[in-house]
Amino acid sequence: MVTPNRRKGTSKPRVAILISGRGSNMVALIDAAKVESFPAEIAVVISNRADAAGLALARADGIPALTIESKPFGKDRAAFEAVLQPALEAHGIELICLGGFMRLFTAEFVQRWYGRMLNIHPSLLPSFPGLDPHAQALNAGVKVSGATVHFVTPETDAGPIVMQGVVVVRDNDTRETLSARILTVEHQIYPKALSLLASGKLRLEGAVCRLDSDVSGEDTLISPQLARGAGA
Ligand code: GAR
Repeated sequence: MVTPNRRKGTSKPRVAILISGRGSNMVALIDAAKVESFPAEIAVVISNRADAAGLALARADGIPALTIESKPFGKDRAAFEAVLQPALEAHGIELICLGGFMRLFTAEFVQRWYGRMLNIHPSLLPSFPGLDPHAQALNAGVKVSGATVHFVTPETDAGPIVMQGVVVVRDNDTRETLSARILTVEHQIYPKALSLLASGKLRLEGAVCRLDSDVSGEDTLISPQLARGAGA
């Protein structure tokens, strides 16, 4: 079981959301956490860019939002993290959710937060990690794609998978239509995945994450679905 490192006296693990841009996944997490029964509290939003649109959205919801500009640190990731880590500690953070946070971490930082830091990526990992996963999916001609929430490891867009959501890829899809369809799935699965982590229902077995509870739902998704009489 992955247990959040709970501070004495607090009933819910405190979560930091790290962003670099528009923050729509951040908003989905903030909205989910407004429900009393949600097992985590969004305590702070941190952006590595002052122009991230998500900062204003967080503040509008009453969430403390701060910027730690990463640009001045250039490629010195450790120096950036030497500022980030104390900020996380100052807010009593136990869990981190990356929401479009476009900055790589050192292996040391990832190790420190291993099992307590989630990321979301708009593809069915391990397919199409890295940049422009939607174009990668379209170029590969896959018939389904989707989104993945996973624990963060030093490799980009890799790590034990917590939850995935699947969408159909249509022949006439563009990057824009596909990314919009996947984004609605991202907003559904990220709060669910955080909820599982925060309530201690996830178990890490090496490179694999397992769930300590019953699951239900469809077992198959076939795409393309042929019209009646058009296929075998
Ligand atoms: C989301 O689609 C997220 O999956 C992606 O960035 C977007 C951020 O949007 N993350 C990655 O590609 C990570 N490799 P948002 O700021 O509206 O949440």
